[in-house]
Amino acid sequence: MTFLPAGNASISEGTSVSSDPIDLAALPHDFLWGTATAAYQIEGAVTEDGRAPSIWDTFSHTPGKIDNDDNGDVACDHYHRWREDIGLMRRLGTNAYRLSIAWPRVLPAGDGEVNPKGLAFYDELIDGLLEAGITPTATLYHWDLPQALQDRGGWPERDTAEHFAAYAAVVAERLGDRVKHWATLNEPSCSAWIGHLEGKMAPGWTDLTAAVRTSYHLLLGHGLAVQAIRAACPDARIGIVNNLSTVYAATDRPEDEAAARRHDGHVNRWWLDPVHGRGFPADMREVYGVELPEHPGDLKTIAAPLDWLGLNYYFPAYVEDDPNGPAPYVRSVRRPDVPRTGMDWEIDASGIETLLLRLTDEYGARKLYVTENGSAYPDVVRPDGTIDDPERQAYLIEHLAAVASAARKGAPLAGYFAWSLLDNFEWAYGYDKRFGLVHVDYDTQARTIKGSGHRYADIIRTHRNRASRAA
Ligand code: IFM
Repeated sequence: MTFLPAGNASISEGTSVSSDPIDLAALPHDFLWGTATAAYQIEGAVTEDGRAPSIWDTFSHTPGKIDNDDNGDVACDHYHRWREDIGLMRRLGTNAYRLSIAWPRVLPAGDGEVNPKGLAFYDELIDGLLEAGITPTATLYHWDLPQALQDRGGWPERDTAEHFAAYAAVVAERLGDRVKHWATLNEPSCSAWIGHLEGKMAPGWTDLTAAVRTSYHLLLGHGLAVQAIRAACPDARIGIVNNLSTVYAATDRPEDEAAARRHDGHVNRWWLDPVHGRGFPADMREVYGVELPEHPGDLKTIAAPLDWLGLNYYFPAYVEDDPNGPAPYVRSVRRPDVPRTGMDWEIDASGIETLLLRLTDEYGARKLYVTENGSAYPDVVRPDGTIDDPERQAYLIEHLAAVASAARKGAPLAGYFAWSLLDNFEWAYGYDKRFGLVHVDYDTQARTIKGSGHRYADIIRTHRNRASRAA
C-alpha cells in the first residue's frame, strides 16, 4: 500500500492520478463526504431542557466503570456549540453529517410524553445543517436507552422493541420532511454483546440469556422502526449500521478454524443474516443454546427491505479456540509486531475492502456507506497551538484507498463518514482516547482542526474538483 508522505503534503491537483494512493475516480460524483458523532459522546447538557438519564448516564456515574471515572455530563458541549461545530464541518468541506438522536431527550420516560424542547434541539440542528449545505443522516439509537426503560427490563424485554418503534415514529414525523437518510441502530452487537455479555458497556450485564434476548429485540426493534419511519416519511432512505470485522484463525489448527467461524457468526452473521431474510444462523443458535423469544412474523419484520447498509470498520480479529471461556468460546489473539492505533487495535486497511465486497457479493448490498472509520492516537498540541497527527493521516488515506479500491471492484459505495468530527467521550475509555479530526480542549472547549482534518478537506476538494470537471 502506498502512503502519501506525512506532514503538510496534500493531495493536490498537481498529483498525477497514477501516484495517488486514493483512486478518487472510482467514487461517484455525488459521493457523501461526512463525519460522524453520537449524542452521548458529544452533546453534554444531560440535565437540560427536560432530558432524562439514559443507561449511559447511570453506567458512567458508577465508580470504576469508565477510565478516570469520566462521564458525558459536559462532553464537547455540542448542545450549546452546535453552530460552531457546523462551522467546522464547513471548513472541512464535508457535505454530510451523521448524528444520533438522544432517545431520552425526545421521550424522557422512553415512552409516553414527548419532550418538545428535546425535539426542538434536533429541529434547529437539522435546519442549521441544511442551511450549510450539509446532508443530515440521523441514527435513532446509538446506545442511550432511557434509564426508565432499563428499569422496566430494558432490551431483554419485547416491549422495548415496541417503544423503540414508537420513538422512531415521533422523530420521523417531526424531522422526516427534512431528514431523508435514516439509520435505525448503531452497532447493535456492542449493545448486546459488550453491554449484556461482557459487561464493559451500559448496562454492564454479564448474562448470556439477556444478551441473546437483547440481540433479538434490537433487531426486532430495527424492523418495527423501519415500518414506522416509512409510514411517517415515505421517501426516507433507511439502513442499519453494523460494526463488522474480518475474522481469521490465529493458527491452522481445526479448533481455531472452528473458533474463527464462531467469531464470524457472533460479530458478523448474527447481525447480517436475519436482516437479509436468512433468519438467525443455525450454528450460532446452537453455540448460544438460548431460546430466542420468537413470535410468528418476527423474522419477516426484521427482514424489512432496506435502502442501504452501513459499515463501521476499525480492525481485524485473530482468534483461537477458548473452550472454557464465555460463549462463543473464542479468545482474541494479540499479534506481535503489527501496527496498532492508540486503542491498541491492529491496523489492517484491507479489511474494509474485504467487508465492503462481502456485503456486495454475499449480501447483495445495493448501496453502501462507510458510516464510521477512524483512529485514536495521543495527539500533541504544539506550542503554536497546531496539532499534526501523521499516524491518523496515514490511517485515513490507507483506508480511503481501500474503500476506493472496493468501489472500483464493484461495491456500490455512496459515502464515507470519518469517525469522528470531534474528540469525544470514548465510552469506557473516557476522554483519553481521541478520534477527532478536530481536537477539543476539554478545559476551554476550544476546537482546533488537526492535520488529519486538513488532509481530509484536501481529499474532498480534490474529488469535488474532479467531479465538476467531469460534469
Ligand atoms: O466511539 C465509537 C462509536 O461510538 C461507535 N463505533 C466505534 C467508535 C470508536 O470506538
